[in-house]
Amino acid sequence: MHKVGFTETVLRDANQSLMATRLGYKDFEPILKDIDSAGYYSVECWGGATFDSCLRYLNEDPWERLRNIRKNMPNSKLQMLLRGQNLLGYRHYPDDVVRKFIELAVKNGIDIIRTFDALNDVHNIEVAVDETLKNGAHASGAICYTISPIHDTASYIRVAKDMKSMGVNSICIKDMAGILSPAVAYELVSSIKEAVDLPLIVHTHSTTGLSFMTLLKSVEAGADVIDTAISSFSGGTSQPATETLNYALSELGYDTGLSKEKLNTINAFFKPIRDAELKSGRINGRVLATDTDALNYQIPGGMLSNLISQLTQQGQLEKFPEVLEETPRVREDLGYPPLVTPMSQMVGQQAVVNVLSGGRYKIISNEVKSYLAGEYGTPPGAVNEGLREKALAGREMIKGRYADTLPPLFEKTKEELKGVARSDEDVMSYISFPQVAEKFFEDRQKAEEKKALYSIEAIED
Ligand code: CO
Repeated sequence: MHKVGFTETVLRDANQSLMATRLGYKDFEPILKDIDSAGYYSVECWGGATFDSCLRYLNEDPWERLRNIRKNMPNSKLQMLLRGQNLLGYRHYPDDVVRKFIELAVKNGIDIIRTFDALNDVHNIEVAVDETLKNGAHASGAICYTISPIHDTASYIRVAKDMKSMGVNSICIKDMAGILSPAVAYELVSSIKEAVDLPLIVHTHSTTGLSFMTLLKSVEAGADVIDTAISSFSGGTSQPATETLNYALSELGYDTGLSKEKLNTINAFFKPIRDAELKSGRINGRVLATDTDALNYQIPGGMLSNLISQLTQQGQLEKFPEVLEETPRVREDLGYPPLVTPMSQMVGQQAVVNVLSGGRYKIISNEVKSYLAGEYGTPPGAVNEGLREKALAGREMIKGRYADTLPPLFEKTKEELKGVARSDEDVMSYISFPQVAEKFFEDRQKAEEKKALYSIEAIED
């Protein structure tokens, strides 16, 4: 019987997509044992916004969260999402930091590291992949899926082949915007499977409503693993429902390895949480709905709402149609980057500026300047050379990998944080989110001093 594995995303992507990663560790701790024994291929539980949200909003140490999940889920493969050379943020880190981060992630419990680069520039994931393999973990190379005149099956196959030659253990097609259609998914999955013969995972979002059909066609084409979210945290900007796909695929004769009873238990646990969060407003009902705008404009839903809010702030919402026309032109000038963070913000912001400032590229954002200088890597297609010349204004292009120009940072930062950071993990939290981590360290210190004070009082009682 054909096997299909499931990756459960409720702890990471579903949590991030529906409620900006505000589920605290204590909120889901009671259900971890059941998730551990449900039969998933892997459980995505870390990465993306987890770090930022833990430190900034939840007063949680993200490393401790990982260790606690590990302790409660001894049998599962724990998975994280990594932005290649950017780790969890949007700037490039030197190689020593990337290597140290991965070493610590694996040491604290991660089994599978899914790595991607916003431009699909494989040079930006090669160090992460190398270090993942050195630490004995599973390196999964993720290809960002996008639609443009220069992105076709052949271009994705080239990326997959480059990833294979780096030694990745699997390939993931990552569709951030939910625009991967069933027909294209079938074509991509079969072609990539044929070209590289590695386990293949498909990741999509339910935003536009295509996701169930897309995953079904992916499985028919030979996908080995699909990403899904337990039903009460599924749909809309999240993943399609685990139970639904388990039901449909089992009926079609696939072996999913999942326990229906366990899935029911997990869903029964998350359902009241979802309901409470809908009531509190931390989940906005709109994110659960189907929104097909992304199919019409080929602009991800999150980017569309960003554009609208930028124009609203400027009191220029009537310029929205113009911005919608300008956005693909800016994207073309930049060599058709996939519209994923940070490229979606960069392209959108420049399009707004081009329309509102009364002339194209009268003002060029610093991000676009850095991008055209090569700081983000190699764009997928040719950029507008006239624009590049204007943006660089005599500054030299970066040759090769931007990270090669960055001096080592970890040991230096560790030295600077003496007396504040208590572990290498702390140092890494600081490097990733300096201000937020600093505040977290201070609060932690204060809380402990307070606790110590109370216990002295208790003794003297
Ligand atoms: Co996602």
